[in-house]
Amino acid sequence: MTESQYARVDQNSADVIILGAGPAGLVLGNVLLRAGIDCVVLERAGREYVQNRARAGFLAPNTVRVLERNGLAEGLRSRGLEHGVCEFRTGDGRFRLDYRQLGRGEPHTVYPQHELVTDLLGSFLDAGGRIRFETEAVAVSEADGPAPSVTVREGDGHPGRWRARYVAACDGRHGAGRRSLPPGSVRRHHLDHGVSWLGLLAEAPPSLDAVGYALHPRGFAGHMARSTEITRYYLQCEPGTPAGAWGEERIWDELGLRMRAAEYGPLLRGPIVQRAVVHLESDVLEPLRHGSLFLVGDAAGLLSPSAAKGANLAVLEAEILARALVSDLAQGDPEPLARYSERCLVHIWRAQEFSHWMIGLLHGGPAAGESSCFQEGLRRSRIAALRDSRAQQNWFAENYVGV
Ligand code: APR
Repeated sequence: MTESQYARVDQNSADVIILGAGPAGLVLGNVLLRAGIDCVVLERAGREYVQNRARAGFLAPNTVRVLERNGLAEGLRSRGLEHGVCEFRTGDGRFRLDYRQLGRGEPHTVYPQHELVTDLLGSFLDAGGRIRFETEAVAVSEADGPAPSVTVREGDGHPGRWRARYVAACDGRHGAGRRSLPPGSVRRHHLDHGVSWLGLLAEAPPSLDAVGYALHPRGFAGHMARSTEITRYYLQCEPGTPAGAWGEERIWDELGLRMRAAEYGPLLRGPIVQRAVVHLESDVLEPLRHGSLFLVGDAAGLLSPSAAKGANLAVLEAEILARALVSDLAQGDPEPLARYSERCLVHIWRAQEFSHWMIGLLHGGPAAGESSCFQEGLRRSRIAALRDSRAQQNWFAENYVGV
């Protein structure tokens, strides 16, 4: 770039640069803004895309509390739906767990993530927040010093550069934040679960008044309401299966087979409006920072969708980081920021452990050969314990909604 181009962009600065306008980035931005901290969100996609991208939708009670205490819960309070029952269907029959009556007695709030993101975006902009859409972060540099910079590619293809005191990478597992970590600066703990799910979004009312987990010799099938008109389904498929491999008829037939619709009632069908194959893997970075660069949400660690914890962890981490940044920048107290990684990792590993247990419950293990029979025995025993033991049910409920 010529000096004049840099001159044009060097006015781009903020105390905190937030990469990504997902749940992590927007909760962080809103909390910082309310505390008077100068921040800017750099988002590679356009506003329309960000507000319509269907992702998760099960909010944990703690997530609702975080949003409420930061004045961000108006939409979910008026349009969210309480959800508190799981139904397990196996060859040995079906059973239901009303987890609102178990553990801490708390439900999920079902509220589509794109609606939450739209609410968060509206709050941020209404409060005068700065966001640059169609501005892709390319790299974060000088993070080991007190003035990191972010090079960007703007919507018109022009390069740009931003400077900050801190950079919060809320740009997911493939974002610039992770990419910019110097080799060896963090450790990555990774696990490939050896299982793939075809994730589907159907314009059809939920077929159950519960989160459905169906275990079948042909594979797992899952059912999660997203609203009264939209339902999320999952179908276990062979790793590497293209998302478009199956026609809608075959998908509905297979879902019906695995969810034992013949025994327990037909599924309410409708157009499948979104599909993607997700390969179940998990990872955790330690520590969740490198100098002035902090990792939040999926950028910090990836969870399989088995226990719907990703967005909930992202919100929790965002508030922890926001409060720590306020302590540092507004009160001159660096201590909370120094403890950010340690504090979040406790919650991350707890969520990872439960998500891993869920995968064992739904799929046994990735073992092959005769040990897969052993894994299958473990899986059946886990299901029986969950069906028969009150203590196990209380443990499940506390971890299922907890973050
Ligand atoms: N520059 C700018 N923005 C980027 C870049 C980049 N290089 N790369 C990604 N982004 C944006 C994406 O367009 C997206 O809007 O970062 C945002 C990341 O949002 P999410 O993927 O939702 O990540 P996060 O906020 O951490 O939330 C994670 O929410 O989507 C659910 O359950 C899912 O676990 C996941 C959780």
